[in-house]
Amino acid sequence: MDLNTIERNDPDSASQSAAAASAPAKKVFVKTYGCQMNVYDSQRMTDALAADGYTATDVIADADLVLLNTCHIREKAAEKVYSELGRIRDMKAERAAVGREMLIGVAGCVAQAEGAEIIRRSPAVDLVIGPQTYHRLPDVLARVRGGEKIVETEYAIEDKFEHLPQPKRAEMIKRGVTAFLTVQEGCDKFCTFCVVPYTRGSEVSRPVAQIVAEAERLADAGVREVTLLGQNVNAWHGKGEDGMEWGLGRLLFRLAEIPGLARLRYTTSHPRDMDHELIAAHRDLPALMPYLHLPVQSGSDRILKAMNRRHTAKDYLALLERIRAARGDIALSGDFIVGFPGETEADFEATMDLVRQVNYASAFSFKYSPRPGTPGADMPDHVPEAVKDERLQRLQALLLKQQQDFGLSLVGSTIDTLIEKPGRQAGQKVGRSPWLQPVIVDEKAGEIGDIIRVRITKTGYNSLFAELA
Ligand code: SAH
Ligand code: SF4
Ligand code: F3S
Repeated sequence: MDLNTIERNDPDSASQSAAAASAPAKKVFVKTYGCQMNVYDSQRMTDALAADGYTATDVIADADLVLLNTCHIREKAAEKVYSELGRIRDMKAERAAVGREMLIGVAGCVAQAEGAEIIRRSPAVDLVIGPQTYHRLPDVLARVRGGEKIVETEYAIEDKFEHLPQPKRAEMIKRGVTAFLTVQEGCDKFCTFCVVPYTRGSEVSRPVAQIVAEAERLADAGVREVTLLGQNVNAWHGKGEDGMEWGLGRLLFRLAEIPGLARLRYTTSHPRDMDHELIAAHRDLPALMPYLHLPVQSGSDRILKAMNRRHTAKDYLALLERIRAARGDIALSGDFIVGFPGETEADFEATMDLVRQVNYASAFSFKYSPRPGTPGADMPDHVPEAVKDERLQRLQALLLKQQQDFGLSLVGSTIDTLIEKPGRQAGQKVGRSPWLQPVIVDEKAGEIGDIIRVRITKTGYNSLFAELA
């Protein structure tokens, strides 16, 4: 697909530049921490602010509004926000000295978890807004400009997605050929280590019609690959166009019908919600990429029980067997926590064993971080930091080896690659493999948005090098 043609024919681009010429637009700087859902939310907040006259900037010092979209998942993630706020406070003072305003807003999961405490710790902050109320951002800002400090963390009764404006088509085109689309939010699982059920609330699924309409708009703007997002994306369910109750598997089939959408993914899923239909979609739906992020957290049943994961290591392995039977070339990715309270060396070895059995193509692993308000934080037998460090190193060495072996196993094979963007080096373009690795090709191999057949010639640290097949 030729994106330049779309850009030229787009009526939005003309009207936007006309508006920009008439009045100096206010500028917003958005910084995003945490998961893909925050990335999606930051875009939607940017869209809501665009409708309110703000244009996005990459330069903090130029911003009339600085918005931090925060993550509360581990202590380090949450603390980062406060050090960043210290830096921004100084910029705010510098701007104030020359008579220019800089509003500071905190959104995301730290906002939801800490609320007014953020303004107490960082008085330069003007507004705190939780993830369920982003559609109210323009109203909140109007009140802030009137001199109020605002903390907006009540769960809204109305559906925020109904009220969030869609981006202009020209803006969507700029965002590239891959996109996120949140279909489900919140979590009812209450793993004992995790803050998400408290920061994002209970599980809510977006309606089918809303999702299909958004996916169609994305496809119309040249998007070729959509990743459906949810904290428990495979718990998504809704009333389908046929009046029947649909699960994620059925939704994926529906989205695959949209012209232009060639690739679908979903993340993050919980092992307990992998139903038969979703596994069948991996067998029967070519657009569904053969890559699955399915966190297990630990390989020890004792620890899994203490984590309230409500599955055993054996359940997880049996599930993977069914998924692999459905789709032989599926690559797996996972999340792991080491040093959960009470984890012994034998428990940790069980995790290492599970990893050896599964053979992951990629994975994320973390040291357990006690989070205020979660049951895990109050459990006995916390693991010393040095032991956590040492276990994490062993686990990561094993996972890295598996990831590299997976890359090496592809050398010499021919695969499909979606060309995504120009490469960092001149003469190159970067694509995406079915398994999410960056694929470096010659820039003449195809246009952005094309899906081309390439032969893998060698591997990089995390990427593949390829030539046109
Ligand atoms: N909903 C997803 C994951 C959400 S959080 C799921 O159920 O898998 C992403 C990852 O962060 C989790 O999978 C877990 O591995 C990690 N994590 C969550 N809370 C943590 C904590 N308190 N300490 C360390 N890692 C944590
Ligand atoms: Fe957190 Fe568990 Fe819910 Fe995932 S399933 S978001 S880890 S509580
Ligand atoms: Fe972090 Fe909230 Fe996502 S805690 S991981 S930003 S859901």
